[in-house]
Amino acid sequence: MSVDLYKPGLEGVPAAKSSISYIDGTQGILEYRGIRIEDLAQNSSFLETAYLLIWGELPSQTELEAFEHDIRYHRRIKYRIRDMMKCFPESGHPMDALQASAAALGLFYSRRALDDPIYIRNAVIRLLAKIPTMVAAFQLIRKGNDPVQPRDDLSYAANFLYMLREQEPDPLAAHVFDVCLMLHAEHSINASTFSAMVTSSTLTDPYAVIASAVGTLGGPLHGGANEEVIEMLEEIGAVENAAAYLDNCIRQKRKIMGFGHRVYKVKDPRANILQDLAEQMFDRFGGDRYYEIAVELERLVEDRLGEKGIYANVDFYSGLVYRKLGIPTDLFTPLFAIARVAGWLAHWKEQLNENRIFRPTQIYVGQRDRVFVPRDKR
Ligand code: ACO
Repeated sequence: MSVDLYKPGLEGVPAAKSSISYIDGTQGILEYRGIRIEDLAQNSSFLETAYLLIWGELPSQTELEAFEHDIRYHRRIKYRIRDMMKCFPESGHPMDALQASAAALGLFYSRRALDDPIYIRNAVIRLLAKIPTMVAAFQLIRKGNDPVQPRDDLSYAANFLYMLREQEPDPLAAHVFDVCLMLHAEHSINASTFSAMVTSSTLTDPYAVIASAVGTLGGPLHGGANEEVIEMLEEIGAVENAAAYLDNCIRQKRKIMGFGHRVYKVKDPRANILQDLAEQMFDRFGGDRYYEIAVELERLVEDRLGEKGIYANVDFYSGLVYRKLGIPTDLFTPLFAIARVAGWLAHWKEQLNENRIFRPTQIYVGQRDRVFVPRDKR
């Protein structure tokens, strides 16, 4: 096989046919099932968007109510999962706790009937319902508190913020969080979704699919970047330091977190919406000193690196929104996972429709026909 065929990172290699999301990276367009992300952010809710992604159509009022009802009903997690979480080290990263807990769901719901639409629906409901509860539970457990039970009278977003902070959120905060979930719900075959698809293609259970995707999302080049954006803004410290910071990064060939994208060569459309949400939060709850640094850094990066197609991505402003929501920095990526479960499940379902196990090839560059040297002769 010719080495010319090799594309590091599979860049530009079509690995699937999909009708879930469409991205035009040069014009900054993102559509879920053909509907622009701006339209959904303006008019939909996370659960309605999740339904659209997974089943391909917007739900009727009755379908949406039934979906929301079922998710509400399944929000609680088994006490044995909570007990398992109590054995995790408090110093462990919440993404690792989430990956382990998502995998543990498979122990409780192990029946695997991938050709049964009821099994598929139940798995979708359970995962969408329980992942937020598990994220909130670990947060409280690691602080030494007991997890808070979900509240049936609260929306998906409001209930999560309630479980996390042990108090009912302001309606604007719940709305903003719901929009954040929509924006992060799906993004074609990125690394974690591809991971979900590879795992799905073996016909394993959906809990293993989600656990493998969570593990992939955690890395700093993917979902983990939003944490690093806040650390970077902290390090910059003041607006007047932004130019020197950027110079240093460029000189040392260090990546500026929250910028650049394999697909977008203009500003990520989600970053525009998130910037707007951040401003709404600041108007209502007071500003954030990091915001001015962020705006200045974005201006400088556009100026210096824009011609290379490096612009703000989804992770650049999401951290500032989450900070204003009072969410600890190391929960930013688990929040991303809560949202992306919708996209992963949509790809899982799509993969099952036309499954073929993933088994790419490789270009072997190692030695051949070596002689085995006995241990005492090495
Ligand atoms: N800062 C500075 N330069 C950058 C950045 C950046 N953030 N991103 C890309 N570049 C430069 C590279 O140095 C390289 O320059 P060169 O051609 O002169 O060597 C060129 O742009 C191409 O960069 P690659 O890393 O090859 O691009 P790739 O498509 O592989 O990477 C990625 C995309 C991983 C997102 C990259 O832009 C990056 O590391 N960004 C920072 C981390 C980040 O924000 N990740 C979140 C992405 S969004 C998401 O996953 C939800």
